[in-house]
Amino acid sequence: MSNSTENLPQIHNKPLRHSVSIPNTFALKSLACNALLIEERADFALISEYAQQLSPVYIVGGGSNLILPNQLGGLVVLMRQQDVHYLGEQAAHHYIDVVAGEVWHDWVLYAEQQGWPGLENLALIPGTVGAAPVQNIGAYGLEVAQFIDSVEIWDIEQAVFRRLTRDECQFSYRDSVFKTPQGQQWVIASVRFALPVDWQPCLNYPELRREVLSSQGEETQVRSKDILQAVIDIRRRKLPDPSQIPNAGSFFKNPIVSAAQYESLLSSNPQLVAYEQPSGEYKLAAGWLIDQCGWKGRALGTVRVHQNQALVLTNTGHASASDVVAIAQKIRADVQARFGVTLEQEPVNWA
Ligand code: EPU
Repeated sequence: MSNSTENLPQIHNKPLRHSVSIPNTFALKSLACNALLIEERADFALISEYAQQLSPVYIVGGGSNLILPNQLGGLVVLMRQQDVHYLGEQAAHHYIDVVAGEVWHDWVLYAEQQGWPGLENLALIPGTVGAAPVQNIGAYGLEVAQFIDSVEIWDIEQAVFRRLTRDECQFSYRDSVFKTPQGQQWVIASVRFALPVDWQPCLNYPELRREVLSSQGEETQVRSKDILQAVIDIRRRKLPDPSQIPNAGSFFKNPIVSAAQYESLLSSNPQLVAYEQPSGEYKLAAGWLIDQCGWKGRALGTVRVHQNQALVLTNTGHASASDVVAIAQKIRADVQARFGVTLEQEPVNWA
């Protein structure tokens, strides 16, 4: 396939746009050679039409988990459609369809205001609703997968909409079928949420529990909006606001190691921060590992490790993808050398 657009038909009167800035929270300067805006349902068919001549296809939501090159060829699809549709209540759940282009945090706020609580622990996560299932966003004891009934996709090759059940999405920690080669043939069109009618607070995460109970006292009195506010407060304290300090959230996943490796690490590092998993393995706090290697607050060129959370890399100036990759490689090498643990990168690298 070529990246030429010369002979492309003007389908539905919606031509491609050229040299469009790709929005991204890391503030990397990146131009899409050929961009298609998805603003309504009929636009999905255009992805399949244009994809016959332009490849690969890149789907961009809020650009909160991306490392981008200066120029991106192929077909860049910008998800801009917005709509929330309440389907009704069934089997103790509220069912709501939310289209992919909705801003995640706006949806969390709206759901809470409508009396459909459940998502408050996931407040203030940057990005769009369509991006949320891809990396199964999670925070403060919850993952989005727990609230997903199904996901509607546009199959680029077959040019049809299809609905995947939650099981078919193959959700796990920061992972899903949408990250596999098969999943990359699909564009998430909308997410069907199932939110509990009988809401219970989730306060497993010690820091959140402390924050909520310090203002609320009794656990039985806690309302979803108290949790919402506490999560917003904690995130504002610890995580840089991408509009002020550009970043892509956690840059590495928290690595999962065997019980034997955990025991051996713990014997030489009594302060090790780790969480036991249902499998018997242990999830290590990557931020702690990076912090111990002395990286917190340190910079390499124009990329700095955030001073309040070593898991977050920030762009201090005019960083490019290669600057980001350079510091990430050094951090990964240091953690490997000191702890024998391999860090896996979270953001997708298209550079
Ligand atoms: N820690 C340090 N030094 C650091 C950072 C963390 O010692 O620089 C320690 C903390 O003291 C704490 C532990 O590591 O004991 C865990 O830190 P934190 O509570 O900040 O959570 P995390 O495991 O680093 C994960 C998610 C975050 C999410 C938080 C809260 C991943 C990769 N990251 O971070 O998600 O907000 O838990 O649930 O799982 C994101 O994905 O962009 C993101 C911010």
